[in-house]
Amino acid sequence: MQNIAVIGAGYVGLVTAAALAETGNRVLCVDSDTEKIRKLRKGSVPIYEPGLDKIILKNKKLKRLLFSTSIKEATVSAQIIFICVGTPSRQDGSADLSAVQKVSQEIARNIREYKVIVEKSTVPAETGEKIKRTIEMNNPGGVSFDVVSNPEFLREGSAMQDAFHPDRIVLGVASERAEKIMRQLYKPFKAPIVATSINTAELIKHACNSFLATKISFINAIANVCEKIDADVEKVALAMGLDTRIGKEFLRPGIGFGGSCFPKDVDAFIHLAAQKGYDFELLKAARKINQERKDVFIKKIEEALWIIKDKTISVLGLSFKPDTDDIRSSVAIDIVRLLLGAGAKVKVYDPKAMERAKSLLKGATFCDNPYEAVRKSDCMAILTEWQEFKELDLKKIKKILRQPVIIDGRNMFDPQQMRAMGFVYKSIGRSGK
Ligand code: UDX
Repeated sequence: MQNIAVIGAGYVGLVTAAALAETGNRVLCVDSDTEKIRKLRKGSVPIYEPGLDKIILKNKKLKRLLFSTSIKEATVSAQIIFICVGTPSRQDGSADLSAVQKVSQEIARNIREYKVIVEKSTVPAETGEKIKRTIEMNNPGGVSFDVVSNPEFLREGSAMQDAFHPDRIVLGVASERAEKIMRQLYKPFKAPIVATSINTAELIKHACNSFLATKISFINAIANVCEKIDADVEKVALAMGLDTRIGKEFLRPGIGFGGSCFPKDVDAFIHLAAQKGYDFELLKAARKINQERKDVFIKKIEEALWIIKDKTISVLGLSFKPDTDDIRSSVAIDIVRLLLGAGAKVKVYDPKAMERAKSLLKGATFCDNPYEAVRKSDCMAILTEWQEFKELDLKKIKKILRQPVIIDGRNMFDPQQMRAMGFVYKSIGRSGK
């Protein structure tokens, strides 16, 4: 059992706190948002993530998971302090690290004995060094401490599964003492540990997310070519994925990658590389392909409807991927905005993300279920691959649509079957005939 503090009760912070409490540690989770902490103390979890609320409530009851707004309290009580605060993008693509700096200063002012300070927020390389310098400068007693980089690889929607069964744990460490403490903490997770320098650990995070984003853009580029020569991208992805050197994950073509990580991380890595004098053209191309995905999708709607203005278009799916209510950098939101901008009447439905989307999509009509959204529409557009959409009663959909047009941005259905049912069905990288 270790005393842990987790600073920042966002996605990464809450999942980290829950997983470490579940493995037997005493965890104090801190956030400056008093309302959030008040709710968490009452047992209300501010984000939707399958399984998270159950683990939080269980460990809260066992008094292994506590909540506070005081970094001082956290620093005094814990031996290991995780920094999980937000690192949003600035206009130029670089990461805004002011929250990380503020937290580091506050920790420094309250250190009275040796602590391990773990950077878990997504940060550019060399942030560990900056955290170390900040703490040294703000720590009046000169107490010894270690900074560790422990990048997070969890995916929203399967964050608990990823937290308990990580493919690997990366530890960027500068001392044997810190490495030993961190290895002990992660023992129950039974995952391979890659221990390395802090800078290398930070670069691993950049490299992983950039590679995955590039992989998605690669298959989307292949989808573009498939459409031009009447080939099937799904079969291409299947065969590529069976090559173990390539692997089958992250080869799903679609409307492009969104979410709070990939777009931001790609920007930050391009920016960091440029700052260091390297023009990361490959990554820039991956970003460009991604930015073009929404136009590719709108073009498909235009091909089917001819003119978008004054048409009623129903959009199924707003979250950046299924099983989450997160709409941060969701391509679906961008597409709805483009449709509204083009003069369409847009009816939207999402199983979880409607509340969050309401303030962003002022002109859209929010519907209680997919059928209500689809009724009397000129076209149904699928933007997020929720299981619920897979189970739609397509006969009913055909009946209630004004014209039987489906534009599927996630390849959820079989084109031949859809056409046999009488739909005009357009998807990604598969024959339009
Ligand atoms: C990602 C990384 O997977 C995770 O390791 C990192 O720590 C945070 O960022 P997340 O953003 O939760 O996780 O979602 P992920 O499942 O990776 O999907 C990101 C985006 O890529 C989504 O918009 C998704 O729709 C898209 N995607 C993913 C594809 O378009 N095709 C794919 O094959 C996979």
